[in-house]
Formats: sequence, structure tokens, C-alpha cells
Amino acid sequence: MSSQIDHLLNESRRFAPSAKFAADAVASADLYAQAGADREAFWAEQARALEWSTPFTQTLDWSNPPFAQWFADGELNVAYNCLDRHVEAGLGDRVALLWEGEPGDSRAVTYSELTDEVKRVANVLEGLGVGHGDRVAIYLPMIPEAIAAMLAVARIGAIHSVIFGGFSADSLRSRLDDAGAKLVITADGGYRKGRVSPLKPAVDHALGDRGAGPQESVEHVLVVRRTGNEVSWDADRDIWWHDAVPAASGEHVAQPFPAENPLFILYTSGTTGKPKGILHTSGGYLTQAAFTHKVAHDIHPASDVFWCTADIGWITGHSYVVYGPLANGTTQVLYEGTPDTPHPGRWWEIVQKYGVTILYTAPTAIRSFMKLGRQIPEQFDLSSIRLLGSVGEPINPEAWMWYRHVIGGDSTPIIDTWWQTETGAMMVSALPGVTETKPGSAQVSLPGITIDVVDDDGNHVGNGNGGLLVITEPWPSMLRGIWGDPDRFKETYWEKFETQGFYFAGDGARLDEDGDIWFLGRVDDVMNVSGHRLSTTEIESALVGNEAVAEAAVVGASDETTGQAVVAFVIIKQSYLDAHSPEGLAGTLRQWVGEQIGPIARPRDVYIVGELPKTRSGKIMRRLLRDVAEGREIGDTTTLADTMVMSVISAQVK
Ligand code: WT7
Repeated sequence: MSSQIDHLLNESRRFAPSAKFAADAVASADLYAQAGADREAFWAEQARALEWSTPFTQTLDWSNPPFAQWFADGELNVAYNCLDRHVEAGLGDRVALLWEGEPGDSRAVTYSELTDEVKRVANVLEGLGVGHGDRVAIYLPMIPEAIAAMLAVARIGAIHSVIFGGFSADSLRSRLDDAGAKLVITADGGYRKGRVSPLKPAVDHALGDRGAGPQESVEHVLVVRRTGNEVSWDADRDIWWHDAVPAASGEHVAQPFPAENPLFILYTSGTTGKPKGILHTSGGYLTQAAFTHKVAHDIHPASDVFWCTADIGWITGHSYVVYGPLANGTTQVLYEGTPDTPHPGRWWEIVQKYGVTILYTAPTAIRSFMKLGRQIPEQFDLSSIRLLGSVGEPINPEAWMWYRHVIGGDSTPIIDTWWQTETGAMMVSALPGVTETKPGSAQVSLPGITIDVVDDDGNHVGNGNGGLLVITEPWPSMLRGIWGDPDRFKETYWEKFETQGFYFAGDGARLDEDGDIWFLGRVDDVMNVSGHRLSTTEIESALVGNEAVAEAAVVGASDETTGQAVVAFVIIKQSYLDAHSPEGLAGTLRQWVGEQIGPIARPRDVYIVGELPKTRSGKIMRRLLRDVAEGREIGDTTTLADTMVMSVISAQVK
């Protein structure tokens, strides 16, 4: 880690925006001045870019921290703001979605068409008895219906919980139970890597007896036909989208809801085994998603073709595929599949086909393209691209330079955007056209956002020093809580710096001599694999759930492509050791984790060891296992109960 930091801090390349880009940019340095002069007035002004049925009179209520209320006496309809108002403004024929299926089928959906579809879906949902405050789970591939489903739920004041299609039936079940979902919207399947990934069967599985008994809250399943694979059918429970939606009325008036009406729950991994249902509300969330999308991505809605490659199952998809872009009336690409199907140039072919002007993706994707070589993107015309964005994990300077050079034609600005599921929208990012960028640094907090890097006691570390990242004042799109668990909300984010009232993000960061922020990764037991958040504890509990495993410890080890990779150290019960080969056991356990949580959680390596390094109080010292996994010299072992254990483990791993 320290050599990595030194390497980063020797990075001295700087890229000023071109005069042309700066002249046409949406953002200006003035935004910082405005926000600095009166932060609340600044956010009130951004909120007024939305259409409110009842204007708010109070901007922020922070009288009951850490529970913030933004624009609380105002009322709006989120879906109306993303759809109807553009149609009413005469923009109905503008394309909202340039959708591309993995097998190459495609569809352009205009704002009028999407509005019409959402109204029909809203009517179907109401017909099924779904109403204000009810939870609706969405388990869909990246198809236009997924966006229509989210907006229809928002339109009727219900709460969506999108579950990434790569999650297993078990993960789905625990999320359905936790949220008490009344309806699931899914598809027969989706295309991934040239194959059909079955979604409806996983829903059936999750709703049936999974050892936990039949699922209680779900009443209906609305099913989109996408792949035509055979699915089983429960006539009392299941409804085909293509039967119900076209038959529903296309008239639906969007009712206003209070700004603090819950909009969605999105589950993310924390430091314990149980995923947290992060709760976001309406007015503040939409304000910050729309504002940051516009200024950080320099959106010119009449001419830009925006492409955020994230799945809607993650927060990036919520804020920068659905809410931000649609609130701003943007035309965007929506792609169903994987980057390398059917060929490794698939993404660049899509950029060329649709003339993408702004591309927003993750460092892990950039690094895998780097590995394949520039000859692949060079076969396509990428000259339409004028701005690049990065999100999900620190971007190393080499990947940053490659991105700019090969994808950005050596001229595009790159924004490195730091934020979290919990923050709802971007918090730290350069402003294109304003900021002189530095490869590898996320740099500065956005206007209206107050960030600091502090020591363990909450004191500002000063330029040139490292510490913990905190957010010092509430922000509009902040999480409003963890679904059903206010205590965990307080403990996780607010207890550490209770005296100061700071939000603790869980990230290490360093301030350089200019005061710019460099992110250094998580400081807790949360891993970041390909920009996806995974909990060490959650994977450990999955492993010990297998009958062959006596004990397990999981670490995130640095990986050239995925940023971090899951590495598991397991102690196998003797009877299983006697009966199976270590390779066989390792393979079985990798697959097991994939089934329990989802393929993204599958360990890269499973090492079978005789013991785990523990302190005298029995705490596993993952730091030492990380040294082994990363092939480093093993650090300080003096607090171990048995100081010899690490040499035994190292020998076993070799
Ligand atoms: C964690 C949040 C933000 C949407 C995608 C991930 C890491 C995110 C960056 C960045 C360094 C980053 C942090 C953060 N992270 N963006 N630009 N530079 N680290 O959302 O799953 O909630 O994960 O991702 O560690 O805490 P998430």
C-alpha cells in the first residue's frame, strides 16, 4: 500500500481544459462561489430546476440529526419530472433511450413513448393493489421495461427495490423479506455473455421454500418476456407484462407526493453479513442526481448522447441511467449485455453506432480493455466522444492516461467521481471545463458539498497528509436511513464522529499539497471488486454455511483488473479433507459462494489452510492474510496468539 501511495504522489501530470470546452461548458467556477456564499440557498436554487406541485418554503431541516429533511414542505412527482414535463415542453419526440440488446436487437424509445408506457404500467400496478408506500422489487435485465418499471413505481408513490440480476435466488429472497415487497417485476430471462440468464426461475425459487419457508409478502409477479425461455407459471400469482401493460389505460395523472416520500431502497454490503437497505427519498435525491449529472457530465440535452454503462441494479444506474439523465431530458444509450459479447469491440461499436458523446464507466472496465490492447478500440470511430467519466473505485494514473489517450483521442477531460450508494449522487468530482485535472485524483468536492479528511479524532489533517474521509454537513441526496434499522444507521455512519456530527464514509483519503483528494480505498471490511461492493463477513458466512467448512476468513487482495479480488482462506473439516482433493474442495467452494450470493462474490482463490491468524482475543487478523494473498512480506505478527501460524499458512498457500 505505501509504495502505491508514494507512486501516486509522484504523479505530476496536469490537464487543463481546452478553451473551446471551457467556453461551452455548463459548469463555471462561479458555482463554487455561489455555494460558498450560501449553501442552502444554492441547493434551493438547484431544486427549483425541478417542477414542484407545491413549492417548498424550507430548504433543510437538521433539527433531528442524523435524520435530515430537505425541501420537506414541498411536493412533487418524481416520474412527472423525468417524463411528462419534457413532453409538455414539446420534447416528446426526443429519444430518451437508444436501447441495444446483447444479441444486436435495438429499439429507440422517445420521451412520449416512455411516458405512455409508464402511465400504463402505473395503472397495472394500481390495479394489482400496489399503492403509496408499498415496496416493489425489480429484478430485470437492462431493457427499457426496467426503467419504465422504476418510474411507474415512483409515479404512484410506492418504493422500488431494484435487485441486480446477477444476485442469486437466496440473495433475492432475503431482500424481498427485508423490504416486505408486495410485487416482483421480473423477466423470463436476460442475455448475458451470449446466453440466457434465467430470472423468473430464480424468482420462483426465492418465493418458494428456501429453507426459510414460503415467502410471505409477495402477492404477484409481473413478468416481461425477453428471451422466450420456458418458465413455470402460477396462474394466481404471475402476470405477463405483454398481456397487462398494453391492455391498461394510457391515461394516468401523476399525483404529487411530499419531498421526503421514500423513493427507493437499494441494498448494499456493509461490514456485517447482513446487507443494508439504503433508503432514499424524493426531492433532495432528484435535485442532486439531476444537478450533478448536468454539471459534472456537462450535459447539453439537445445534442449529447450520454452513456453510463452501469447496471440499474447499482446506485450508479439509479442516479445516472434513470433519474439524473431523464430529469435532464437527456438522450442516452442503454445496453443489455457484457462488453465482450459477441466480440471484444462491442462497446466501441456501440459508441460509433450511436455517436456517444459522454461515456461514464468504471476503472475495472478500462483496465480490462487496456489488457486486450488498443488495437480493438482503434478499429472504431470514437471521435464523437468529448467527455469521459470514471466511478466505483480509485482509478490508477496508468488507466486514466490510457482512457484519455485511446478512448478520448488525447483531448477529452476525464472526471473521476467519488460517491456511494449512501450519498445517492456524486460528491467529489472535477468540473469539466473548470478544473485542471490530475490523473488518479478525484480532486475536489462538488459545489454545495462539504468534505474533509480528518484523523481518528476528527481533526483536519492538513495538506500533504492522509486520514479518513468525512462529509461535514448534510447534503440533499443523502440516505435517510437503513430500512427498518435506525440504530444501525446511526452506528455505521454517525457514531465515529458523533461530537463533530460528521458522516463517516469508510474511505481512506489523502490531501495533496494543493488540497486535492486522493482516495486510498476502504478502511473497513468492505471490498471493492470491479466497482461492486462486497462484505468480507457476508462471504465468510456463506463459506461456513457449507458443510465441509470449519472456519473461513476472506480478504480483498489487489488485482490488476478488478481492483480487488476475493481471496478466501478456509479450514476444512477433517472428514472432508480425507475424502476430497484440495483442488476439488476449492472449486466446490467457489461455486458454492456463487450460488449463495451471486457470481460477483465468487472468490478468485480459495486457499485451504490448517489454521487462521488470530489475536489472543480471537479476532482474525485479515491484514496478515492480505499480505499472503498479495505475495508480500508478512507484517507485524506480535499480537498473534500463535506467532508461528503465518509461516505455516504461507507454506500451505504455496
Ligand atoms: C465505495 C462506494 C459510487 C457508485 C459506485 C459504487 C468506492 C466509488 C470511487 C472513486 C475511489 C471510489 C469507495 C466508496 N468508490 N467511487 N471515484 N474513487 N473510490 O458505490 O457500491 O456504494 O461503493 O466505492 O470506496 O466508499 P458503492
